[in-house]
Amino acid sequence: MESHDDILRAGFDEYREFVNPLIAQRAALAGEPIKIVAARDGLLRDVEGHEFEDFHGTQAFDHRNPTITAAIREYLSTSAPSWYPSRVNPYAGRLARRLYERTGYDNAFFGCTGSDAIEAALKFARMLTRRPRILGLEGAYHGCTFGSVSLMAKGYLRDPFGPFVQGTESVPFGDVDALAAALAPGDVACVVVEPVQGEGGVRALPEPFIEALCELTQKHGTLLVADEVQTGMGRTGRGVLATERWPRRPDVVVMAKQLGGGIMPLSVMLTRRELFLKAYGDDFASGESHNNTLGTTAISCVAALAALELLTPERITRNQELGAWLKESLRDALTGSPLFREVRGVGMMMGVALEPPDHPWVSFEHLGFETSGVHGQSLISPLMCHRLYRRGFFCFTCGHDWSLFRLQPRFDIPKETLERFVLAVKDELAFIEGLQ
Ligand SMILES: Cc1ncc(COP(=O)(O)O)c(C=O)c1O
Repeated sequence: MESHDDILRAGFDEYREFVNPLIAQRAALAGEPIKIVAARDGLLRDVEGHEFEDFHGTQAFDHRNPTITAAIREYLSTSAPSWYPSRVNPYAGRLARRLYERTGYDNAFFGCTGSDAIEAALKFARMLTRRPRILGLEGAYHGCTFGSVSLMAKGYLRDPFGPFVQGTESVPFGDVDALAAALAPGDVACVVVEPVQGEGGVRALPEPFIEALCELTQKHGTLLVADEVQTGMGRTGRGVLATERWPRRPDVVVMAKQLGGGIMPLSVMLTRRELFLKAYGDDFASGESHNNTLGTTAISCVAALAALELLTPERITRNQELGAWLKESLRDALTGSPLFREVRGVGMMMGVALEPPDHPWVSFEHLGFETSGVHGQSLISPLMCHRLYRRGFFCFTCGHDWSLFRLQPRFDIPKETLERFVLAVKDELAFIEGLQ
């Protein structure tokens, strides 16, 4: 068997060579912490012993949550099969039942990635309604498969891949009139939305838009699909799902990322049994098209069952309260800085929007970057992230809008760590202002 020490010594360079050299190059240029060799007590540790808080969000329960690890170990100590050739998998059955108890949706489809589950939702909507059109919102990110890319915000993640899936189109973010006009012909299978757009700049859907969305989709017999890949599993502090208090519950909800407890790849498309039976219930053959191979791997379900147990109402409430405190603290600390625009977000899903610096030194050109690869984006968030890595915080630039950095802390993060984070952001913003 390969030794872990050997993998950790050589595997980072092997990634650059054999996986994706561009990602490795970007990470190196940005000064990202790369050679991470340990995860302990919620922190990542690099080869030189520096420690980092991971604000990506996928590790909401930590990289090695002891409860989730113990559940997986226990499962592996049994003789239960890893996978069921009939696909009738008792672990998937139990997980679907627990999801029903926590969310009210009584039909589940499991995949390995968020994109898988989005793809299943698009096909489901077409199957159920037999309508051609599929709407998304401008600024969207739903993954990298063709259905998802067809709904992606315009730009480098979408433009090179056309032609797109026929019938897909985007409506301006928050524009009720445009939504009403697009739905009016009655030929739209579904509208897909993120309750809070992540890559689009941590933008929560405005309340009037949510109300119109719920009402208009109902009126036109269009399925409402909520992509809760980022917002689900309690992150927004509004419930297991961010959409729990919407005037109408979405017909379909997608979750992924933290669903697998930060250890196993797992996603789910949830809907109502009644809708499933209407869509696929008429013949056995069509039921087989709502399917995949490894989505119902027992070990992924075991990890998710443990993660759901950890997602207590107290943890969800803490996300709401701590998130509100963090938002307020960041706002207080940064107000008055000429580079500060606003703090956005809900619960433990937050973004800090900054002004592009107005100085030739603070530019990709000045730092020697090949600017054709950055598509006119702002340098300010990559620069802030770079400064924050050095302070022990792994933040992320929004994929569609590089004037924002986003932070999605692990759920058990100590408040003191967030207090240090607020001070670090304040200091580093002041440093960048000083460069101008
Ligand atoms: C809102 C949203 N939907 C879907 C996806 C796609 O998930 P995955 O990368 O697991 O395919 C992502 C990924 O970041 C996402 O943020």
